[in-house]
Amino acid sequence: GRAIRLAVIPGDGIGPEVTAEALKVLDAVTSGSASGVSFDSTRYDLGAERYLATGEVLPDAVLAEIREHDAILLGAVGGRPGDPALPAGLLERGLLLKLRFELDHYVNLRPSRIYPGAVSPLADPGEVDFVVVREGTEGPYVGNGGRFRPGTPHEVATEVSINTAFGVERVVRDAFARAARRPRRKLTLVHKTNVLVHAGAVWSRVVAAVAPEFPEVSVDYLHVDAATIFLATDPARFDVIVTDNLFGDILTDLAGAVTGGIGLAASGNVNPDRTAPSMFEPVHGSAPDIAGQQKADPTAAILSAALLLDHLGLAEEARRVEDAVVADLAGRTGTVAGGGRRTAAVGDAIAARLT
Ligand code: NAD
Ligand code: IPM
Ligand code: MN
Repeated sequence: GRAIRLAVIPGDGIGPEVTAEALKVLDAVTSGSASGVSFDSTRYDLGAERYLATGEVLPDAVLAEIREHDAILLGAVGGRPGDPALPAGLLERGLLLKLRFELDHYVNLRPSRIYPGAVSPLADPGEVDFVVVREGTEGPYVGNGGRFRPGTPHEVATEVSINTAFGVERVVRDAFARAARRPRRKLTLVHKTNVLVHAGAVWSRVVAAVAPEFPEVSVDYLHVDAATIFLATDPARFDVIVTDNLFGDILTDLAGAVTGGIGLAASGNVNPDRTAPSMFEPVHGSAPDIAGQQKADPTAAILSAALLLDHLGLAEEARRVEDAVVADLAGRTGTVAGGGRRTAAVGDAIAARLT
């Protein structure tokens, strides 16, 4: 059978706890499948512990090795916000964003559904099933800035967003193609073109230029502040949202909260051209407040593993994992993450539905 070379980066906090459950589910779905695929996993101990022990964040040789895999499964990286032992952004920029940039993950795919059984804070949300296509390699994330006269009353800090026609066009094109394959065929550009007029003009121009190639897709636009209103009051109106890196970051935590909790929100950092492995990870972070306590819901990591399967052409296996999650969700009661079970118990229950 086909052996899939999987790089696993469990990372920090709840990362290792949720990743263990996603791997459990990947093993269960492939061992029970007729396709004969299996996972040949290599674990990379990158993250806070390695940095504190060795000073290393992502050595070039390790990045080169990771590049040789078919896909990457990541848990979460980052310490407790404000921890003096870890310089702000060191792991986020040096590990997570470095992987996204180096491996050209320009489509940050973040689907949102209210599954039957999931508890939305909205009383009557209706049918919610949308996907945020977040640009993954540009915008305010590029690190194009600096501090001048740091620490003085005259300090000036800049953080200049980069938006290239090339970068915007490739993600917009991907979002249109996704919208064309979905039943509602609707694309919403979210930006802040009323204030960020330079970047906004590029996004608007590119969307208008690509739209005629997808005449079946209807296009609309929302300013990002208004988009948060509708995400919180009427998320069912959305189908595909295409947006800038930072807006997409914020909107997808909100989307997670509205669709049943951040413990359910999955993501894929996709390189659609397949020039490098894509990377799948929950939307959430390392959750230092609950780390090491088996309180985290591993469902987001498990659904990210389903996105990974789908990306590797294992659509049937992906569907089986999603079905197992839906069945598990249907049996949950209350709003406590994971239905009040330990992290491993949630993974066991979902894996048991696959064998
Ligand atoms: P967070 O997502 O880690 O946590 C926010 C809240 O959500 C916390 O109360 C946490 O307990 C809860 N939560 C998160 N995941 C959960 C789960 N699976 N089950 C139940 N509850 C869950 O965000 P934060 O506190 O802002 O960030 C913590 C650290 O993680 C920071 O260092 C940040 O930079 C990093 N981070 C990393 C990633 C990533 O690796 N992709 C994503 C976001 C944040
Ligand atoms: C996410 C995280 C990351 C981001 C951070 C940790 C760099 O919040 O994956 O959503 O902002 O993209
Ligand atoms: Mn985020």
